[in-house]
Amino acid sequence: MIDLTGRVVLVTGAASGIGAAAVELMTGAGASVAGFDLRESAAALSMTGDVTRAADLERAVAAVEARFGALDALVSNAGLFLAGGGDGPSPQLEEENFAALGTLIPLGRYGRPEEVAAMMCFLVSDLASYCTGGIYVVDGGYTAN
Ligand SMILES: NC(=O)c1ccc[n+]([C@@H]2O[C@H](COP(=O)([O-])OP(=O)(O)OC[C@H]3O[C@@H](n4cnc5c(N)ncnc54)[C@H](O)[C@@H]3O)[C@@H](O)[C@H]2O)c1
Repeated sequence: MIDLTGRVVLVTGAASGIGAAAVELMTGAGASVAGFDLRESAAALSMTGDVTRAADLERAVAAVEARFGALDALVSNAGLFLAGGGDGPSPQLEEENFAALGTLIPLGRYGRPEEVAAMMCFLVSDLASYCTGGIYVVDGGYTAN
C-alpha cells in the first residue's frame, strides 16, 4: 500500500470519475486531499470553481495552504479534453463508437477510474522519487496495439 501520510494534494475534477477515485485512494493512503470541481466533491476540503478561471484556481491554492499549511502535489485532472463545437454525435452513435473502441483494447475492457487513480497515487508518492516528468500510459494496451 502506498503511504501518502503528510502529503497535501489538490485534485481538480474531484467530484466524479477519475478525480473522485483519486480523492478516495489518496485519502485512504493518508494524504490531506483538497478537491476542486464545478460541483462539491468528497474531499476533506471541497472547493467549487472553474479550472479555466485563473482567479478560481488562485483562490483554491490559497485555501489549501491556509487549511493544510502546504501544497505538495497537483492532480490536474479536469478538462484534459476541450469541448468541441456543434451538436456532436447522437447518443446512440456515441454508444456504438464506445462499444467498437472497446474491442480494440488488448485487455478487452475499458479502464476503471481507480486504475488511473492508482498511477496518480504512485506519482505523488515517494516511490516516484526518480520520476521527473514523463508520459505514463494506463490504457489496457490500446496504444501498443
Ligand atoms: N475516462 C476516460 O476514458 C478518459 C480518457 C482520457 C482522458 N480522460 C480525461 O480525464 C479527465 C477525467 O475523466 P473522467 O472520465 O473522470 O471525467 P468525468 O466527467 O467523470 O469527471 C470530470 C470532472 O471534472 C469536472 N470538471 C469539468 N470541467 C471542469 C472545469 N472547467 N472546472 C472544474 N471542474 C471541471 C466535472 O464536474 C467532473 O466532476 C477528463 O479531463 C477526461 O477528458 C478521460
